[in-house]
Amino acid sequence: MFEALKPQPQDKILQLIGMYRDDPRADKIDLGVGVYKDATGLTPVMRAVKAAEKKLWEQEKTKTYTGLAGEPDYHAAMASLILGPTYDASRLAAAATPGGTGAIRQAMELIRLASPNATVWLSNPTWPNHPSIITYLGMKSAEYRYFDAETRAVDFEGMRADLGRVAAGDVVLLHGCCHNPTGANLNLTQWAEVADILTARGAIPMIDLAYQGFGDGLDADAAGTRLIAARMPEVLIAASCSKNFGIYRERTGILMALSSPAQKVVTQGTLAFLNRQNYSFPPDHGARLVTMIVNDPALRADWQAELEEVRLNMLSLREQLAAELRRLTGSDRFGFIAQHRGMFSRLGATPEQVERLRTEHGIYMVGDSRLNIAGLNATTVPILAAAIVKTGI
Ligand code: LMR
Repeated sequence: MFEALKPQPQDKILQLIGMYRDDPRADKIDLGVGVYKDATGLTPVMRAVKAAEKKLWEQEKTKTYTGLAGEPDYHAAMASLILGPTYDASRLAAAATPGGTGAIRQAMELIRLASPNATVWLSNPTWPNHPSIITYLGMKSAEYRYFDAETRAVDFEGMRADLGRVAAGDVVLLHGCCHNPTGANLNLTQWAEVADILTARGAIPMIDLAYQGFGDGLDADAAGTRLIAARMPEVLIAASCSKNFGIYRERTGILMALSSPAQKVVTQGTLAFLNRQNYSFPPDHGARLVTMIVNDPALRADWQAELEEVRLNMLSLREQLAAELRRLTGSDRFGFIAQHRGMFSRLGATPEQVERLRTEHGIYMVGDSRLNIAGLNATTVPILAAAIVKTGI
């Protein structure tokens, strides 16, 4: 049987991890996978996470199964974080998932079950695992324009025109904030227009929210999602706690489905059913920590303070890199780096230039020239800027 297997294409982002690890150069710089690193290169365990783990160890009485869709207090904690404390629980069905990717996968399975012929519209470009999962599940997808390669800002004209062609019942996948891979985000006026277009077309929005708190702040980063949730009758939200709680390996995510109170019961049952088919019970450790942190005022305050430090550090690195490139080039053509938000910016380099950055300078970024700003520090910013200029980007 196994001889029938064909080698699968390697994920372009994950491939970089191995290449970087195997590079013997001491001065190599990793700007690949989307993991936050402090100035010493460490991905720290956040203070509130450590404190919650200690408390959990002292207080936990059982490790029996959770609910099939995870625990309701986790759903409530995540809903209040994402939708705001006054969210409408009567519309909400939710399931804990293994990470944000687990939530995306379950969302696609839900869409396929409810509407097998629906087309899922993806931004061009988008996170490579989006089309990969959709293709694997045999679903239909289409692209809408999103990024202006010249200005490195959102191509809203193109996006508007393409979303105007979406058919009733299609699903449009949007990045809630900190667009991956570009770093270019919609403003609130544009979110409102997207809501209007999708309403007029009868389409269903699905929001991938993996970086809440990394862009403009916890509430600001959820503003687009909240607007869509308030205005549209049916919404899917796949969220990750990997980045904003720094619990990557705990695989902590959630899929939320907003519909009518009458529909909610069947949707909730379907989410539980899908969990059962794929992995039965979702992982709980990370979900428990998140619930404890969100619900404990002291832990929450400390978590928010540390998250804010992380956010401001990334903003400062953006400013430093844009300023250094301004100094070296005498132009503001890299000013977009300071305008973008979140971990990533798309530099606009060719694959050959990205390759040269790696081979000649030991600088690793994704082939589409997505760089992880959080991989930089005050020492490596000028090194990267000089390499960018030397490579003729
Ligand atoms: C990324 O885009 O680098 C992260 O979301 C990690 C991943 O799984 O690709």
